[in-house]
Amino acid sequence: AKYSSYESSGNVKNVTRRLPQAIIIGVKKGGTRALLEYLRLHPKIRATGPEPHFFDKHYKKGLEWYRQQMPLTKSDQLTIEKTPSYFVTKGIPEKVYIMSKRTKLIVVVRDPVTRAISDFAQLVSRRPDVKSFEELALVDNRTKMVDTSWTIIKIGIYVKHLVNWLEYFPLRQIHFVSGENLIKNPAHELKLVQDFLGLQPLIDDHYFSFNSTKGFPCFRKHANSSKIHCLNNDKGRPHPIVDPSVIKRLRDFFRPFNARLYQMTGHNFGWT
Ligand code: A3P
Repeated sequence: AKYSSYESSGNVKNVTRRLPQAIIIGVKKGGTRALLEYLRLHPKIRATGPEPHFFDKHYKKGLEWYRQQMPLTKSDQLTIEKTPSYFVTKGIPEKVYIMSKRTKLIVVVRDPVTRAISDFAQLVSRRPDVKSFEELALVDNRTKMVDTSWTIIKIGIYVKHLVNWLEYFPLRQIHFVSGENLIKNPAHELKLVQDFLGLQPLIDDHYFSFNSTKGFPCFRKHANSSKIHCLNNDKGRPHPIVDPSVIKRLRDFFRPFNARLYQMTGHNFGWT
């Protein structure tokens, strides 16, 4: 259904719900909420609030259901959603391709070891009785073999997931955001994303203000407004202390996969 709204100028503009032209497909705990909330500040972007989980949980409901989850947009506005599980879920690249092979894909990546600990911190907040990180990450403490069947480990092998997407999408249609740099220099990462989306780089330094109490950037909804918004407290959780020998083991485990990711994307994310 199409709706019409009158602008103050008197022009009639069609507003309607559209399928997303760009999707933040991953990764969980990479900084996906921060990125979506920053992009939402752009007048040419409209984004869903919750994660629609269409391609992994509601696919049978069909594209019309998916479209109904989207916000109203004018013809010159981009529709964006984020569901971080898409990046790592089998079969989704083909499903997105069937919707539109022109879909722009955005992946926020973060050091897979820190990402794992962050994911674990979230797990503990929901299931306080869970085993320790060290127990879950290694098959057994004697051999120090990494448990590659643990989802929290699997998600971090980014290059493996990327290969699945590259069967359907060219690399130039996938933009990688450094999760670390999204915290250190949000305006710079936002410039790159706006370029990728073909938008004027309106979201710049003026929007961001580092909050040293929270330890993260917070933001204004308008470049000149004095009110500053931060993400909720479930973003930027304290991490548990993990046995350094287990950290080292995980760093060694991920290193070759990271190197392949750097090689494939032409971008060194600086994880050591
Ligand atoms: P931690 O909670 O481990 O610090 P996601 O939204 O994909 O779940 O990612 C959550 C992560 O976003 C947080 O992980 C935090 O490091 C990162 N982040 C990036 N910018 C942030 C911001 N402005 N406020 C809070 N967290 C932010």
